[in-house]
Amino acid sequence: MPSTAARAPLLTAVLVMALTSCSIAPQQAAPSPLPPPPPPNSVVGEPVAAMDPAGIPGALPTSLRTGTSAPVSARWIYIDGAENFNNRLDGGLLGILDQNSGGRYDPSVADTAGAAASNKVLTLDHEIIATGDAMVGTRTTRSKMVPGSGPTVSVTTEYTDLSTGTVEPGAALVAKDSIEQIRKLLGEAIEEKPQPSTPSASPSPGSTAVASSSPAAVPPPAGTLLGGAAFSPEGDLVVPLAVSPVTGRPLAAPVTVHVTAKSSTRLLSDLGRRMQQLASAPRPLMPLKPAPAGQKHVNCDLVPCAALTYDDGPNEQTARLLDILAAHKVHATFFEQGIYVATHPEIAASVAAGGHVLANHTMRHPDLTKLSTAAVQAEIQGTSNVIKSATGVDPGFLRPPYGASNARVNSVAGMPIIDWSVDSLDWQSRDKAVFLPKILKLVKPGAVILQHDIHSTTVDGQDQLITSLQGLGYHLVTVPQLFQGIELQNGRAYFCRGTTSPCTPGR
Ligand code: NI
Repeated sequence: MPSTAARAPLLTAVLVMALTSCSIAPQQAAPSPLPPPPPPNSVVGEPVAAMDPAGIPGALPTSLRTGTSAPVSARWIYIDGAENFNNRLDGGLLGILDQNSGGRYDPSVADTAGAAASNKVLTLDHEIIATGDAMVGTRTTRSKMVPGSGPTVSVTTEYTDLSTGTVEPGAALVAKDSIEQIRKLLGEAIEEKPQPSTPSASPSPGSTAVASSSPAAVPPPAGTLLGGAAFSPEGDLVVPLAVSPVTGRPLAAPVTVHVTAKSSTRLLSDLGRRMQQLASAPRPLMPLKPAPAGQKHVNCDLVPCAALTYDDGPNEQTARLLDILAAHKVHATFFEQGIYVATHPEIAASVAAGGHVLANHTMRHPDLTKLSTAAVQAEIQGTSNVIKSATGVDPGFLRPPYGASNARVNSVAGMPIIDWSVDSLDWQSRDKAVFLPKILKLVKPGAVILQHDIHSTTVDGQDQLITSLQGLGYHLVTVPQLFQGIELQNGRAYFCRGTTSPCTPGR
């Protein structure tokens, strides 16, 4: 033990210095201090923070929770008006979900009991991590519970140029001839640190066994190594690692390494420098043309959807229904009769103004199969004219009264025919205690639900119906949203979306 007495004069001197200068802490005032070590080129740090979608104009957050034999919890962000981006995102998610279900994935509604019982839960988290002009950086974190060994996690970043549709992976941030230098810098952060020496000669048996039985070193290829690369606001190249960048061996736990801006900037590609600048000084996205309210991007092969459709209006009840739909931020499809649009043009206009879809249900509700061709045409064209005149909208869908159609009607329809898969018979019971359970029993993902907005009893049940369907996980959509991605043919009848008859499959 050093002599306290011998050090006392020095300590006194140090204390005096500290008290007078107030800038040197006593323990730093060694007689000949070593020069500070150079700052490291790479360090273990935090992942890049995701952007708050609320702060990104046009961001459309979406989520999915299924409870099947392969339960999934997922959330992702569409960009309104960027259909190439949205469709590519759908394709990627469907690919992962197909793989997860070991075959074709089909949307299903939540079954919490099933989800809780299974430990094969897949979690997908797609976030926006950078924006600026035409560029969007996204990160998809995929985490799957593996029984007995905890979750496996993979992180993938992509950089999309919305103006050209070009999509680049994380590895494209680094110049091709600089990959090995980046690999070395990443390795320095996690492997080349001196290990703390332990007095015991034998390390723990577990680590010895892992080390001696590990396969030969195979460094991960650039695409894997930098698959999740991104930039921090400081301009650091941030790389999540699940395996050693040098040996390819799995790490004890995933880490995130920051290669400092100072050491990484010269190793970046043009794309990398551009994204690095945007991370340091974010810019808003280029203006995009947003989709109309009731036609925002949704993929009903991916999420369980149901389309609420209301026939035979408009009338005074319609106005009350619009308030209920607005309160739930739900959009629906209204198959309107021409004579009532002519009577209540202002209600028809409010339907359109609410972002709902207006469609054609003929002028006077005849059985079209019993009319002459000219009379059928007059019923359809007259209705389209009066809707256009009241709302400015040219209807794109026909629902023949009673669903009654034939080859002649189909040949002059001039637009796709939309029937239904769930008949509520709300007009018959006029009692929500009867028609709501009926709907909830019959509804399946991809359903078209038929109700009538002219009955006060129907409108009375809608708040509860919407709450129930959404509680089951349904995304309530309009007819064009339900069939998004399917090219509907004029004069052909559609009942629902899906792979079981009479539905139309989306893929
Ligand atoms: Ni009708």
